[in-house]
Order: sequence, then structure tokens, then C-alpha cells
Amino acid sequence: MSNYPETGRLSAPADTTLRIDNIRPYGEGDPVSVLIEDGCIAAIGPEVAEQSADDVIDGQGNVLLPGLVDMHVHLREPGREDTETIATGSAAAAKGGFTAVFTMANTNPVTDQPVIAESVWAKAQALGLCDVHPVGSITKGLAGKELTEFGMMARSDAKVRMFSDDGKCVADPQLMRRALEYAKGLDVLLAQHAEEPRLTEGAVAHEGETAARLGLRGWPRVAEESIVARDALLARDYGNRVHICHASTTGTVELLKWAKEQDIPLTAEVTPHHLLLTDEKLRTYDGIFRVNPPLREEHDTLALRQALLDGLIDCVATDHAPHGSEDKCVEFENAKPGMLGLESSLAIIAKLFVASGLADWRFVARVMSENPAKITRLPEHGRPVAVGEPANLTIVDPEHPWVSDSTQLASKSENNPFEGEEFGARVTHTILRGRRTFDLQTDSDK
Ligand code: DOR
Ligand code: ZN
Repeated sequence: MSNYPETGRLSAPADTTLRIDNIRPYGEGDPVSVLIEDGCIAAIGPEVAEQSADDVIDGQGNVLLPGLVDMHVHLREPGREDTETIATGSAAAAKGGFTAVFTMANTNPVTDQPVIAESVWAKAQALGLCDVHPVGSITKGLAGKELTEFGMMARSDAKVRMFSDDGKCVADPQLMRRALEYAKGLDVLLAQHAEEPRLTEGAVAHEGETAARLGLRGWPRVAEESIVARDALLARDYGNRVHICHASTTGTVELLKWAKEQDIPLTAEVTPHHLLLTDEKLRTYDGIFRVNPPLREEHDTLALRQALLDGLIDCVATDHAPHGSEDKCVEFENAKPGMLGLESSLAIIAKLFVASGLADWRFVARVMSENPAKITRLPEHGRPVAVGEPANLTIVDPEHPWVSDSTQLASKSENNPFEGEEFGARVTHTILRGRRTFDLQTDSDK
């Protein structure tokens, strides 16, 4: 709680005590009770069940994780409040188990000045459903020509710690070099949307057999990989961190391996949709499946999954990108790229890695909470479930069958590519600084 209440920057911790009974931190060992006071974990153990509290959650033997962190979402405010707002996006985040998200700068106006970043931060804090950290753009107006004032945004009340032109690539290598040099002095993160624009002109789908069959213009893997390789070398020579948004190809995984072997400060995220879906989905020409970078082929999804297991890809990020039906229920070429993700991410990761036996809940905590909090240098999220730590927590029922249904979403949009998908794990509660921000029971009663 380092910033509260002195600066009023963070929404207040709960002033009541909360006890969670019959709960298994990281899904390990016998169930325990967890007592939360002043927004922090005060005690953990079987005997804690005897201590009184203002409010009690029956954990039903479920899994307790550190609150999830998503370093890549689009909450569309300001500018496209018809598709998502900070309020609806925060509610979707809380429902998905997230206690902190980073919302990208491709708003309207673009988040390229402190005043816009501060208004996003303040609105979300007033709501208190999720810590929404604004990402600042790298270039003014996302025009790719002139750098923004990183320092002013970093020092503003929004404390911007990540900069990205996401949606667009910082394609000019000289500009990227200057951005790296500038970012280095401030220790802020640059997140790159890796897409060489000359190679993707007019492209709407992955360049491969499916796009050829369907008559869609292709987006080749090299458009992503050439920028990943270039930025790895820039990060090596100019010494600052670069984060690769939504890694989508087998070749990108190979480049990440190479970069990590050289100790280049390169990190990467992967989206649930690039882990789960392939371009086979495009067969129906449904605009729901248009996304940037595009859905690739099976070997890519397998390489991405293995890279996440091996730590070559550091974390999962949803790239939650809401769009209205007027931009999605149109010809494939005219559909806007982007998919929802906040409300299904945990279930997809649990299905692919935990239910399959490939990994455990510690892994989920690492790739969905600890690592994104570390990469973005968030001090109060992604912390261990331990006494003295902030009570930013997520409870997951690992055996709660449910079917993804676009009409049941907290998000304002319905561009859900997982419609009808069957899942086995479900977030039952989300807790931010000791306060419930989501409760499946009351949500279902609505
Ligand atoms: O599919 C995408 N949609 N990829 C991006 O990089 C941007 C995003 C959006 O803003 O809709
Ligand atoms: Zn994005």
C-alpha cells in the first residue's frame, strides 16, 4: 500500500476483515484459512478458521492464486465507449480473475500525454474494480514519426511504466533506437507490436494454405519475425528492455531462444487465442476470427505452448480487443482485427496446461500473475500468497464445467472467438486489496 493514502493514488483497501476458509493456495496441500486485514494477508493456516472476521468466503477446497495481471488489453476509453469502457472493461477483468491490467494507447485521442493517462487511471481507481494502468504511446498520435514525452507520462499521477504503439509497429529502426535510449534513462518498458508494415499491406489472414484456399491476402510470419530479430539486436546494442506483444509464430520462439541465450533483455507474451486457435477457423469467413497478428497453423500453436512451458515466452496476455457488431459482422476483409479475452483466459490456460497434466497451478500463477507483474515492475501484484503480502487474490474452481456464451459477458462487446467452447475451470472470486471485486455466486444471481 505504498501509495495509499498519502497520495490517494490507489483505491482504498477494504476497512473490514475478510476470511477465506477451506482454500488451497496454488492448489497445494490441505485446505487452510486465510485472514485478510487492511488489504493485506494477516494470517494463513488451519487454525485461522477460529479467528473472527466481518466477512467470510467458503473456498470449497478451491485454488487460491495471486490476482491475475494482464499486460495487454484495450478498454477503448476514451473514444470508443460504445464498445468498451473503463467500467465494463474493469468488470470483465474482475470476472476473469484480474486485479491489474494495462490498457493500450490506441484510444481516441491517443494516450500520448499525461492528462489522458491520468484520466484513465483516476477513473479506474474511483471504480475500484481493477487497477487499470494506462500504456503511453511511443510516438505522437501513433503516427510513427515523433517520440512522445515518456518522462512526463512516467512522472504523472498515472505513473506510466509501459509504452507501446500497439495496433501499429514502430517500424522505423532509427526511431525505435531513439525510443530505447530514452526509455533506458527512465527504466520504462517498450512493448513492440512486431509487424513489418511493408510485408502486411492489405493482409487479413495468415499467409498459408488456408488463406490461399479462401482467397484472402496473407500476412507472412516473416513480417513478425524480422521485427523481433531487429528489436532483439537493438535491445542488445542500446541496452534497454523490449517486450514483444502477442508472439504468434514458431520462428519468433526460435528468435526468443536465441536472444535469451545471449542475455538480451527481451521478454514476450502470448495470447490465449494464439495458443488455442488456428487459421482453420477462417473457413466460415466469420469476421470474429480476424485478429492481428493472425491465427496461424498448428505447429505455431504447439511451439508457443512449449515456449510458455519452457519460459522462452514469459507470460500470457489477452490482447482483449472489443469491437462492435458493425465492425465484426461484415465481410472478412472489412472486419476489424481483434478478439475478446479477459473472461476466458484463465479457463483456456487451465485447460491447455493444468487439465492436460502439462503443468500445475504454480505455473499458472507464474505466467498469468508473477511474470507480467515483474516485467511491468508492479510492486503490489504478482506477489506470493503469504503473510504480509497485499491481498490481491483470485479463487479458481478447477472443476466447474461451463460453456463460453457471448450473451453472458461483462464486456460491452460480443466478439468472442471462444463461443460454445467447453471449459473446466472457473474464477469464483476476485479480491483487490481485501475487497471482493467479483463473486460468481452474486454474478449468477443477477
Ligand atoms: O487484433 C488486434 N486488435 N491487434 C492489435 O494489435 C490491435 C487490436 C485492436 O486495437 O483492436
Ligand atoms: Zn493489442
